[in-house]
Amino acid sequence: MSHKNSIDLQKVPQHIAIIMDGNGRWAKQQGENRIYGHYEGVNSVRDVVEGAGEIGVKYLTLYAFSTENWNRPKEEVDALMELLVSTISAETPQLNKKNVRLQAIGNLDSLPSTCLEELNESINLTSKNTGITVVLALSYSSKWELVNAMKKIAGELSAGNLEPADITEQTIEKYLCTKDIPDPELMIRTSGEHRISNFLLWQLAYAEFYFTDKLWPAFRKEDLFEAILNFQNRERRFGKTSEQLTQAK
Ligand code: IPE
Ligand code: IPE
Ligand code: MG
Repeated sequence: MSHKNSIDLQKVPQHIAIIMDGNGRWAKQQGENRIYGHYEGVNSVRDVVEGAGEIGVKYLTLYAFSTENWNRPKEEVDALMELLVSTISAETPQLNKKNVRLQAIGNLDSLPSTCLEELNESINLTSKNTGITVVLALSYSSKWELVNAMKKIAGELSAGNLEPADITEQTIEKYLCTKDIPDPELMIRTSGEHRISNFLLWQLAYAEFYFTDKLWPAFRKEDLFEAILNFQNRERRFGKTSEQLTQAK
């Protein structure tokens, strides 16, 4: 039986973030080069987006390329950028058909212009869709995002538009790439690595973390459902005691 049938649809996380890791190792296991793993990873993305949409997840953020990934060999970086362009252009009609809205976060201006153009076109073409929003984290790192936010806030302070005493959590959130997007409740990382690799440091402050040994190209919607079931069996206390939570029910 599919894990899907056991999911409580009233308690599906509205935002799930995924660190899609393990493409290179998966390819190596198949006796192929790393780039083959990235290509195969696209099938996982398609399946997981579909699965998340089926159960009513509102936002799915996918870590696709980090600031640090620019330090990989040039041929791998070039292949990833090409894959990004070809995937976005090939998938956009399907995104529209499935009512999926595409967005992106990160230092997008650092992407090659062909990539950025393709991305912006797809974002525009899907902007009216009302189903799941897929947020691609591209050339993204959380420290970059926070430095950027602080620069903008400092600019507002020196222009006299903001007083230090008026800075709140909401002020900071307004300057993050994720403004208007609720924080993820669940963060999944594949490939057995137990770290967050500069991903959404602020936004994951109270997220539940789920780690699986599955490598990204082997991950499918059924694995996503399993992660959600695991999430639904946890008690999220937000600093309170377990008794307080039971009494409130
Ligand atoms: C994740 O898979 C994809 C990107 C970081 C772009 P990796 O390429 O990191 O694969 P491993 O971790 O080396 O196996
Ligand atoms: C994190 O994976 C970034 C993405 C999945 C895009 P990495 O493979 O780059 O992270 P590290 O190097 O294991 O921390
Ligand atoms: Mg990796």
